[in-house]
Amino acid sequence: MAQDDLVIDPWGSAQSTDYDRIIEQFGLTSMDGVSLSNPSKLHRRGIVFAHRDVDQVVEAQRTGSPFGVLTGLMPSGQMHLGHSMVVEQAKWFQHHGGDVTIAVADLESQATRGVSLSKGREVALQEYISHYAALGLDPEKTSVYFQSTRPIVQRLGFQLGKRTNLSELEAIYGFGGETNLAHVQAPLVQVGDILHPQLDDYGGLRPIVVPVGVDQDPHLRLTRGLASKTNWFNLRESSSNGLLISLSVHDENAEVFGQLPNGRVDKSRVAAVFDLVVDAVASLGFSDILSSPKQGHVHVPSATGRDKHALRLAMLRLERTLGGPGLLAPASTYHHFAVGMTGDKMSSSKPKTTLFLRDDVGTVEKKIKRAFSGGQPTVEEHRRLGGNPDIDVAYQYMMYFFEEDDAYLGELNAAFRSGSLLAGEMKQLCIERATSWMSELHEMRDQTAHFVDRFLAEDSR
Ligand code: TRP
Repeated sequence: MAQDDLVIDPWGSAQSTDYDRIIEQFGLTSMDGVSLSNPSKLHRRGIVFAHRDVDQVVEAQRTGSPFGVLTGLMPSGQMHLGHSMVVEQAKWFQHHGGDVTIAVADLESQATRGVSLSKGREVALQEYISHYAALGLDPEKTSVYFQSTRPIVQRLGFQLGKRTNLSELEAIYGFGGETNLAHVQAPLVQVGDILHPQLDDYGGLRPIVVPVGVDQDPHLRLTRGLASKTNWFNLRESSSNGLLISLSVHDENAEVFGQLPNGRVDKSRVAAVFDLVVDAVASLGFSDILSSPKQGHVHVPSATGRDKHALRLAMLRLERTLGGPGLLAPASTYHHFAVGMTGDKMSSSKPKTTLFLRDDVGTVEKKIKRAFSGGQPTVEEHRRLGGNPDIDVAYQYMMYFFEEDDAYLGELNAAFRSGSLLAGEMKQLCIERATSWMSELHEMRDQTAHFVDRFLAEDSR
């Protein structure tokens, strides 16, 4: 690993905000090229800035095919504004046809933060899910579960664990000899969280998108790698034209793929598998299909990059009928972090750096008044030099959380930059927006309190 390579530690307090570098080093794709219908304010404002494979979800939205959203929460501490960003995104995906699954990471919280399972349950329901309800998630299309009471997520993690090793975890997370094994187990359970919604008992094969902050990307890299390693069929671009499908032979499928224990190959078995591949491809409407068991691939010359996703799904479906897990690597989206109110990082353990969703209106007002300002030290200088909205907490919080109207926000931005809008005035505007947003949230919380239970999956009641 090169000296200056970034390692993201999902449990650490350091937070890299060098987003261009993160995109480049970890192979994320910028959201710039993705066109969403009806984007939310987080999308319109570039706050959701990068993704992996989100096209498959956009495609599902467009065609009305099923897709799911998976997110998780750590039941510890109080829920704050930063936490609301994934809820906002889950709600948006839900509004556009997705089903939502929410993992309560009670095992992770117990192992890495010393929160007991019963305390974790209480915190999850009273502090998090009650706010998820108040923020407008639809209980009919949302299913909340606990890691501790859904054995399949632990089992999946255990099973997939054999496809990675300590060196890989060292490279992804920066682990070393002193690393506590809870930090090895937690990511594997999270892999189970992320992959299990596509199992037949939990909604079946469909794209799953995981909206996260970049601190969680290591888990996605691990999950995507593990899912791909289980695949029975490979899909790749042909050097001439179209796509090539080949078999990926390993322990679990050797027999099905006609690889005999004595090292010989059952040719008729291989031919039968190739026929199944051809049938699956034909059922998508392709007519020009060149099957070549000898060369080890099926060539679909007329397939383009756009067909890749449908072909991959078809191969995973086929894999499942042959007895394989048929796991699709999850998609993910990444959001920028809102700056903490003090100008440093937002943190639940430092109440001055954020607004908790239970803060009363008086506290909200006080915190915003004291928040870090992008204005100049004196009014005279501010009028002359203008302020910087990019670091002004009041402006930033309206942009991230409280103000829906882009045009109005644009006016505020310009007025602040030119110096005609003063820092104190910006704070006052933010206070008005924030206090009405908060009062509305609190009112909704009271109104939705009686149906928080409806969010719980059957294994979690
Ligand atoms: N590790 C996450 C956190 O620290 C919680 C979590 C558990 C999670 N499972 C997840 C997040 C699956 C996203 C997807 O907050």
